[in-house]
Amino acid sequence: MSDVRLLAHHEVESFHHNGFLSLPAITTADELAWLREVYDRLFDERVGWDDGAQFDLGGDESDDKLRIPQLISPSKYVPELLDTEFHRNAASIARQVFGDDLADDGSEFSDHMIFKAPHSDAETPWHQDQAYHDPSQFFRNINFWMPLDDASLDNGCMQFVPQSHTWDVLEHRPIGGDARVHGLEVVDGQRFHERSVACPIPAGGATMHAAYMLHYTGPNRTDQPRRAYILVFRAVTTEREEPIDAPWQQARETAGDKRREARAGQT
Ligand code: NI
Repeated sequence: MSDVRLLAHHEVESFHHNGFLSLPAITTADELAWLREVYDRLFDERVGWDDGAQFDLGGDESDDKLRIPQLISPSKYVPELLDTEFHRNAASIARQVFGDDLADDGSEFSDHMIFKAPHSDAETPWHQDQAYHDPSQFFRNINFWMPLDDASLDNGCMQFVPQSHTWDVLEHRPIGGDARVHGLEVVDGQRFHERSVACPIPAGGATMHAAYMLHYTGPNRTDQPRRAYILVFRAVTTEREEPIDAPWQQARETAGDKRREARAGQT
């Protein structure tokens, strides 16, 4: 087993200062090969579809062609995903950054996968993850975004606006203003392109970002898939002084939510 990775002191400082950080490696080549097999099966078989755990992040599912397939909690379907170098390294780094503030009630960890097919014109517009979360709570998360393929500007690597993690939540809406779409976007987000920093990283590397960080990924203009596996580690949340006014959360009415509710109604 390889050594558990920790950050150098200057990397921790850079993460706190800028709100994001690129890591050249967070797993092994062997593990990557295994993860690609698992990943492809989960999307080929649409695992979690009937539960509403798999859905289209970027479209309305009005036809069979999904724009940005996403699977929430793949480790519930493949528990071996909890026993990886990626998980151990991310957990160690999260503990290093948060110390005793790391939650320990089961809410400290979640995972998801986001797929961009070859020649996908779907961008993931500018957004802050906190826009998805409970508006009454202040979240301190670290998202470890690991591509299973070399991530570049051509296939949709992560892009960030440095230090935007110190801002409050901007006005969001469902992508394209369409309430049937799960994904959220900042209103007039195009203005952030000129201030963005792109983070191309090799397969098996990772970017880390904070819960309020503005981020974006572009379309996949290559012949190869852009497969991303994301682990989220969370510090204990605290009550916000003012809840976020988040009408975009009520506005959404997605097919995936309906599948989830129908499944919950069966139990
Ligand atoms: Ni995001």
